[in-house]
Amino acid sequence: MSFGGLIFSNQFIRIKTAIPSSSVYGFGEHEHPSFKHSMNYIKYGMFSRDQAPAFSNLYGVHPFYMCIENDFNAHGVLLLNSNAQDVTLNPHPSIMFQTIGGILDFYMFLGPTPENVVQQYTEAIGRPFMPPYWSLGFHLSRWGYNNIEVLQKTVERLKEYDIPHDVQHGDSDYMDRQLDFTYDKTNFAGLPEYIKALKNDGMHYVIILHPFLTKDEPEGTYKPYDLGQEMGIWINNSDGATPAIGRAPASCGRAGVAGGAGLWAASRRPARIPRPAAHSIDSDSSEPVTVPSTKGRSRHAGRAWPPGGSVFPDYTNPLTTEWWIQMCMEFKNIIDYDGIWIDMNEPSNFATGQQPGCAKNNLNNPPYVPDITDGNLAEKTLCPDSKTFLGDHYDTHSLFGWSEAKSTFYASQNATGKRAFVLSRSTFVGSGKYGGHWLGDNFSRWRDMHMSIIGMLEFNLFGIPYVGADICGFNEDTNYELCLRWMQLGAFYPFSRNHNSIGSKEQDPGVFGEKFATISRSALLIRYTLLPYLYTLFYHSHINGSTVVRGLMHEFTSDPQTHGIDRAFLWGSSLMITPVLEEASTNVLYQRNMIT
Ligand code: NOJ
Repeated sequence: MSFGGLIFSNQFIRIKTAIPSSSVYGFGEHEHPSFKHSMNYIKYGMFSRDQAPAFSNLYGVHPFYMCIENDFNAHGVLLLNSNAQDVTLNPHPSIMFQTIGGILDFYMFLGPTPENVVQQYTEAIGRPFMPPYWSLGFHLSRWGYNNIEVLQKTVERLKEYDIPHDVQHGDSDYMDRQLDFTYDKTNFAGLPEYIKALKNDGMHYVIILHPFLTKDEPEGTYKPYDLGQEMGIWINNSDGATPAIGRAPASCGRAGVAGGAGLWAASRRPARIPRPAAHSIDSDSSEPVTVPSTKGRSRHAGRAWPPGGSVFPDYTNPLTTEWWIQMCMEFKNIIDYDGIWIDMNEPSNFATGQQPGCAKNNLNNPPYVPDITDGNLAEKTLCPDSKTFLGDHYDTHSLFGWSEAKSTFYASQNATGKRAFVLSRSTFVGSGKYGGHWLGDNFSRWRDMHMSIIGMLEFNLFGIPYVGADICGFNEDTNYELCLRWMQLGAFYPFSRNHNSIGSKEQDPGVFGEKFATISRSALLIRYTLLPYLYTLFYHSHINGSTVVRGLMHEFTSDPQTHGIDRAFLWGSSLMITPVLEEASTNVLYQRNMIT
C-alpha cells in the first residue's frame, strides 16, 4: 500500500510505503542503537563518509532492509541507488525513501525465512567472497608501532604467551611519509626480511593502502603517481580534464610524525547535527593484468610529510584497475604481503572539496541535502561535480569503496597468485563479493562492544559476512577489564582483529601480563577449535549466500522475543555466543531484562 506523496523530479525523488510490521532491520552504514529498529520517526542518511561510528552516515551505503511480518514470514527490499539519500522509519508502520538522483530501482526478496531473504539478496548482488583459511585466525594490528623494534617486541610477547597470532597488519606508519607502495627504510629498516621470517613461521601479513596519492614528489621518483598521471586515471575536476587535487594526510605539509595523530584525529564521534533548514525540499522542489618494475625511491630523513596535494584514482575506470594491479604486483616484490587493507576510501579528503573549492551549481548545492552529517555533500570529500569514468561524483561518490575493492580483489589475486584477501572501510551493495569490512574507528568504551554486535549482524544481512570491529577499541586508551572482555567477544567476530590508534596505549593481548594472556589464549583457542565450522559457514555463504553470524530471530523467527536480541548472536544455526558486555559483571543474567 502506498501512502501517496510520490515525488519524481530531477534532483529529488520521494516514495513512502506502508510495511506489514515494525520488525525492521538493516539500512547502513550507521551505528544503530539496536538491531531491530525503532520506528519512531527515525531518519537515517546514507552517503559514504569518513566518520567514526555514530548515529549518522558512516563509511558505507546499504539501502537494504529486512522485515519480519506479523505472520513471521520475512521479506527484504533493496533500493539500488547510489545517490545521497535518507530513509525515515515511521510508526504507522511505514518507510519513506528520499534520494537526490538516479531512479526508483527496487528489488523485493520474498523469503519466507530471514536466511532465504539474505540468500536471495546475495544471489542478486553477488555472493560473498570465500576468505582464505588463514584469514580466520587472529589478526593483530596497530597504527603507530612507529618502528620495527616495537613491532618485533609485540609479536614476540604474543609468541611467548603462546597466543594464537596468524596475521599481522602493517598500518600506514610502515610507509615512507604515508606514501603508498613505499616503506620507511629508517624506522622500519629490514621490514621485508622480517616479514619473510614471519611468513616462514607460518604467519601472514596484510598491508594498508590509502587511495590518495601525493602529486608533488620530484618527477621520476614516485612511480605510482608518475604512471597514473601518464595513464590519466585520476578523478577529474568538473572540466573532466584536470585532476581533482585534494588534501590528504600525505599532503598536509610538514607536520612531523606526531602530527599524524593530530591531523587524523578528525574522525571523532560527532554530535548529531541536524539537517539545515535551508535545504528543505519544500522550499525548492523544481528541479587480470600483469606488468613491469619499480625504481627505488630515495629515503627521506626522519618522518616529515611530503608537501603538496593529492590526487584520487578513479577506480570506476578499467584503466585504473590495470595501474593498481601493476603497482600492487611490483610492491609484492618488495614486501611479501598476503592481503590488502583499503582504508579512507569514502573517499576521504581532509578538506571540503578539492582546490580551489566547489563552484556554486546544482550538483554542489542541490535543492535538498539528505540527512547527513554537516549537511554538505563535499564535506571531507571531493566536490559533487567532479568527474569519474562512470559519471558525476554526485552520482558515484558512494561507489568509490566498492570500485576500489573490486580492483583490489584482482590486484590481490594477481600479486599473491592465491585467493584474494581485501578488507575495505567503505562498502556498497555487492561489496561482499570482493572483500570484508571492519566497523571503523570505534572507541575503547563498553557501549562500543554492544554496538559491534549490531554492526556485525547488519553486515551479515548486507552480504558482507567477513566483518569485525577493532577489538579493545580503536580511539582512546583501553583498560584491562574492557580489553579482556573484548578479546572474549572478538574471538567470535568472523574477522577477529585487535587494532589500535596512534597515540593510544598498547593493547595487544600480550601487553597486560600473564593472566590476561592466558584468558585471551583460551578464548582464541575455542575459536581455533571451531575453525572448521566457521570455514564451512563461509563456504555456505559463498555458495548459497547464507549468513555466517546471525541474530537469534533468523532461527527462532516465530518467537517474537528473539526479534530484539542483539547482545547474543549465533554462528550459523548451531552455536550461540552471549558475551559479557557490562563492566564489573561476571555473568550475563542481566540480559534477561534486556530482551524486548
Ligand atoms: C583510518 C582507519 O580507519 C584506521 O583503522 C587506520 O588505523 C588509520 N586510518 C590510519 O591508517
